[in-house]
Amino acid sequence: MTIVPASKPRLVIVDDERHICEIIVESLAGEDYDVESFADAEKAIAYLKDQPVDLVLTDLVMGDISGVEVLEAAHATQADTVVILMTAYPTVQTAVSVLKKGAYDLLVKPFKLEVVRAAVKRGLAHQKLSRDNVNLRGQVEFLKAANGVNVGVDHERYLATVLSSCRTELRAVAAGLIEIDPKTRRVIRRLEDPEQHECRDILLDERTITEFIGKKVLEPRISSCQGRQGDNMVEQTLVSSPIYIRNRLHGLINLLLPTRFARLYPGQMDVLAILTNAAGSAIVNQKLYQNVRSAFIQAIKALANAVEARDKYTAGHTDRVIKLAEQVAMHLRWSKRQMETMTVGCMLHDIGKIGVPDSILNKPEQLDEREREIMRNHPLVGVRIVREIELFKPAIPYIISHHERYDGTGYPKGLKGTEIPIEGRLLSVVDTFDAIMSDRPYRKGAQLATAVSELVDNRGKQFDPEMVDAFLEVLRRGAVSFVDLYGRDVDTTCLFPSPATEAVSV
Ligand SMILES: [Fe+2]
Repeated sequence: MTIVPASKPRLVIVDDERHICEIIVESLAGEDYDVESFADAEKAIAYLKDQPVDLVLTDLVMGDISGVEVLEAAHATQADTVVILMTAYPTVQTAVSVLKKGAYDLLVKPFKLEVVRAAVKRGLAHQKLSRDNVNLRGQVEFLKAANGVNVGVDHERYLATVLSSCRTELRAVAAGLIEIDPKTRRVIRRLEDPEQHECRDILLDERTITEFIGKKVLEPRISSCQGRQGDNMVEQTLVSSPIYIRNRLHGLINLLLPTRFARLYPGQMDVLAILTNAAGSAIVNQKLYQNVRSAFIQAIKALANAVEARDKYTAGHTDRVIKLAEQVAMHLRWSKRQMETMTVGCMLHDIGKIGVPDSILNKPEQLDEREREIMRNHPLVGVRIVREIELFKPAIPYIISHHERYDGTGYPKGLKGTEIPIEGRLLSVVDTFDAIMSDRPYRKGAQLATAVSELVDNRGKQFDPEMVDAFLEVLRRGAVSFVDLYGRDVDTTCLFPSPATEAVSV
């Protein structure tokens, strides 16, 4: 494997008639090429297996060995080698067949030497265009990927795009990314493209990064390795490009190239450097985002605590609701993004109670009509508080709809069924469950059976039946620790009604 500097094109001429080789070599002498010639096709094939070349000019029929075998040997070493075949026995069938096998041109003997020179020039110009095109496409890919940074914070997807661009632009069979913690050097992320590639052991091998640790090597490392192709092990090339952020090693991109002597051109090296930098930027952005997010979560917690501190009935309610809602959301296979939003939504769902006076919030007796109206206004007050703050906006569905009822008799909008955002339908179940289960100053928390029958009795009335079923399934699975949440063990037999009880209820 070599990184190819801008150098003379390397040509190989193969013809079992030695004088033809000599004539062609002679005719190309005035051009700026490095030319090797072989009258023995077998030796030419052995040479091509060890030496990547830019252009091969070969006779089609040479005793036992055909020019097509020479072509295949050249392409196995380097896919974009230009191969021009020569034949004294042209047929349309032969022409079609060799072009299909990847030959660039077919020259008919006898030919004028200027025809050979022109074909070689044309072939090399075509090759240069295609290599330059790789560079341009790489830059387009980079711009696409860079755009991804600006449009969202899905860093994982962005890194996957970078990896896929690397694979495409460097014509690799597969690509892998390993990210490490620069302090502990522990691996914190592994990505691959395509997923589950048969060579993932190589692409995601931690040892490939240890080669860079403590060495400050900025250039990609290029080595040969044994890769799998179907059932066979073949010699391939591994390119490892280190990701540095402010001079610290944060990871690397591994690319598996299909042949033993794959070459990278300066343009491709530029593309790899650009995409490796792009991966570094994504990693930095993600860390910044995580820092901002955790500061933001701290701020929300402070707000939620401010509400709880005023409402003596709801101490610890928010934390418990988050834990219960997380279990239901996981059971329903909500996405990572939905889960993150849910935490914020649950924290802020009662933020509007800031606008409810203490005399109402903490009144032990029943509220009168006016007081009830003020209390019922807290979802709207909550939305007014958060709607101007971009980071809080995802909480709005939780705030606005957690007191809606499935049968349409809730507040503030009286929404019905699936008109109620799914976030509100989930929160309403766990919010009520926690209110029943938790201790209040004037009463002890209820038994599990009481809370469960409240949910079951109101299934399809106050609550979305699917949410009730999901929550009960979570409880049956033992995913909720009552000791942790309520400081007591509970009798869970109510979650597993006996067949006789079920028969009666049916
Ligand atoms: Fe509420």
